[in-house]
Amino acid sequence: MDVAVDAHALGSEGFRRRYGVRLAYVAGSMYRGISSPDMVVRMGEAGLLAFLGTGGLASARLTRAVDDVCQRLGGRGVFGLNLLAAPSRPVDEEAVVDLCLARDISAVETSAFVTVTPPMVRYRLQGVREGRDGEVVAPRRIMAKVSRPEVARLFLGPPPEPIVRQLRETGRITEDEARLARRVTMADSITVEADSGGHTDQRSALTLLPDILRLRDETQSQVPSGRRVSIGAAGGLGTPESVAAVFLIGADYVLTGSVNQCTVEAGTSELVKEMLQGVGTADTAMAPAGDMFQEGAKVQVVGRGTLFAPRGRKLYELYHQHASWEELVRSDPRVARQIEERYFGRGFEEVWQETRAYYGARYPEEVERAERQPRRKLALVFRRYFSLSSRWAQEGKESQRVNFQIQCGPALGAWNRCVRGTALEPWRSRHVDQVADVLMGGAADLLSATVGRYASRTSPLPATVPAGSSTGRQS
Ligand SMILES: Cc1cc2nc3c(=O)[nH]c(=O)nc-3n(C[C@H](O)[C@H](O)[C@H](O)COP(=O)(O)O)c2cc1C
Repeated sequence: MDVAVDAHALGSEGFRRRYGVRLAYVAGSMYRGISSPDMVVRMGEAGLLAFLGTGGLASARLTRAVDDVCQRLGGRGVFGLNLLAAPSRPVDEEAVVDLCLARDISAVETSAFVTVTPPMVRYRLQGVREGRDGEVVAPRRIMAKVSRPEVARLFLGPPPEPIVRQLRETGRITEDEARLARRVTMADSITVEADSGGHTDQRSALTLLPDILRLRDETQSQVPSGRRVSIGAAGGLGTPESVAAVFLIGADYVLTGSVNQCTVEAGTSELVKEMLQGVGTADTAMAPAGDMFQEGAKVQVVGRGTLFAPRGRKLYELYHQHASWEELVRSDPRVARQIEERYFGRGFEEVWQETRAYYGARYPEEVERAERQPRRKLALVFRRYFSLSSRWAQEGKESQRVNFQIQCGPALGAWNRCVRGTALEPWRSRHVDQVADVLMGGAADLLSATVGRYASRTSPLPATVPAGSSTGRQS
């Protein structure tokens, strides 16, 4: 039996309509502008959604990047910004929200949140109104990236009442916005992130995605399907096969990251793109995350052609074994020397002075605390390695190649093999919107062939999914 599945029909129509996009496909945020203005503009012009990587960008640079995108797109396409959780510095969240509201940015991708915060609620509620049909219209869309059901639950419900009250009392939202708050969900869409590049819990999409789809259905069973919170899949998507698989499970949309870092538009160095073009699925490694170093969070990075992962792990170990740099020097002078020479290329004191200047200008209280607590000082200096290793990679500093921190998941290795021998093998011919079309077009072809094959069987397939499950209930 001939079955023709169209790439434009994959995922949920509600999702495509909500964001005004051609395909249920998103290019996710990548910090320090790796998901660059060029990437966002290219996607926007192709009728696709991408998020600008705001993490680690100074406020002036971020504002310039946003203005650049707005001017080049001229309202012709949608795009959004990354809103990163900053529990210890809520002002950073406020600053991104202020910029979004000032520039009328209608979508944000939230990441690393484990709780709903006032800046996020302020963004969500601004402009909420009752439409002519009595439905509540929320013009600011939140796409929340999660990897745990309990966090997904926070975004499936309305904004917490105490936060709404506080925002109303301080005049940050209007009476109407506060009144309508209980009729909107915190997010429009939730991206379920499995084993991915960058920060990851390395969960399996095969278990996490169905679980959160069911959670959505349980909590929103009364909501018409077209208005339900969309559930997307991310992590490990680098081939038409993997994209087809998550659509078959019931994903409303897909979101990629690693494959986009190896495209013309990515805001990283040519040297990194060369390295990325050669990675395979087994060439990634886990390392501590610099921004959550003390908490023990992890990132997935390229593990071939750079020593960043073992060096990052070593720093984490040493931080747990020693109370101060001085104590480390006393107990293991050889290791201390190696760190100065090989990791930083200069002495501890020099790196501290540099770190001090950086924090002093932004967060002077951090410097004061570090000067009182030697272990904090050790952590701040070690964290500097994570920021330098990222910067060296992004700038393509050849002499520091051995220290390059390149966040990446196995999806890129799978994509590299998939395009081997085709026009897309060299990264210079890979454009971010083209990657989207190849993955989605290939997934549609695969589904056509598979559905056709199963549909032509004479005996019906046994029902393997209990009634009421998410599969097949696309809006
Ligand atoms: C280099 C790189 C940087 C990333 N930076 C961020 C970020 O700043 N914020 C964020 O929400 N996700 C970030 N991510 C995650 C991506 O947005 C996306 O969720 C993830 O890469 C999808 O999994 P995949 O890498 O398997 O495609 C990053 C991923 C990579 C590869």
